[in-house]
Amino acid sequence: MLKIHKDYSLLGHNTFGIDARTAIFVEYSSEEELRSVAGMLRDGSLPSPWLHIGGGSNLLLTRDWPGTVLHSLVTGCNTVFRDDDNVVVRAGAGMVWDEFVAMCVDKGWYGAENLSAIPGETGAAAVQNIGAYGMEAKDLVLEVETLDMTSGEKRTFSARDCRYGYRSSIFKQPENKRYVVLSVLLRLGLRPHLNIEYRALSEALAGKDRISLQDVRETVRSIRSSKLPDPSETGSAGSFFTNPVVPRSRLEELQRHWPEIPYYPVSADTVKLSAGWLIEQCGWKGRSLGRAGVYPRQALVLVNLGGASGSEIVALADAVRTSVRERFGVELSPEVNIL
Ligand code: EPU
Repeated sequence: MLKIHKDYSLLGHNTFGIDARTAIFVEYSSEEELRSVAGMLRDGSLPSPWLHIGGGSNLLLTRDWPGTVLHSLVTGCNTVFRDDDNVVVRAGAGMVWDEFVAMCVDKGWYGAENLSAIPGETGAAAVQNIGAYGMEAKDLVLEVETLDMTSGEKRTFSARDCRYGYRSSIFKQPENKRYVVLSVLLRLGLRPHLNIEYRALSEALAGKDRISLQDVRETVRSIRSSKLPDPSETGSAGSFFTNPVVPRSRLEELQRHWPEIPYYPVSADTVKLSAGWLIEQCGWKGRSLGRAGVYPRQALVLVNLGGASGSEIVALADAVRTSVRERFGVELSPEVNIL
């Protein structure tokens, strides 16, 4: 059954805790229901523009939404293939991502454990190519099944079609916003294989022998909770900016002034800088502007100190960007979708 609400508060649907409203909020539980919603949007029985949200964990609302907000309640997960090495599962876009990871760890399936405790849902994970501790969603995604809202037809994208990059995919391009993710096919490994190279992870696991999937999941959860706010207590959307990718020549110029600047090689001539470090150097860590703050334990995270509006968070983000631009000549881009 479609669930349709009028003049609905999105407070419970965004982790920043912004009290914005939408004219209509629709939750659907199947492909057929989404197809009928697409028809209602086309014939005007539901108001446009429409916006699809997942867990609202990468979203900053700066205004009320004048049209329809959609949310998937397609949450099932089933096995579609299994051999000696791998298992392939189909997960509904509305499945809570961390419940998917917990299930994989529970069943002894390898590959999702480093992505433990990331807020949000599976459809958005495949759109945003979430990543942490040396792994990205693209390492698991085989196919993304979508509904084209303009034609009402189903279209399946292979991982290659998705053109995954750092926190990006074709679904983030404006011309592809018409594709709504129905479900995601993900491949997990059945043979023991862990990826614990990421420094914070290898340091936390040092000295431990016979490391299990559960150990990795628990370690990731504890690193995250030591650095990132608990969304149930403090409003935030995780990292507010992406880590900037710059030419190596730019890094060399910066190293003349700041020899200790952290960086990670991306290609032969580009490197990724740590936005958190740049922001901290500008003195923003732990500081606030109105009811918006820079998280004291991770400068890349902006937080709602209580009752902030979306515009207050944006004002802080702009001030942080200006400082980083003036001091380092580096432009920060929001990772969060600002609406
Ligand atoms: N750093 C500082 N000060 C800070 C924060 C970071 O100096 O306040 C420096 C440190 O040198 C640290 C380095 O930045 O060693 C990297 O920090 P961290 O390991 O915390 O990772 P990050 O680059 O800040 C990224 C992701 C996170 C992900 C972690 C772990 C992005 C935009 N963020 O953060 O993802 O959990 O790596 O893999 O790529 C998210 O996307 O919402 C998110 C939380």
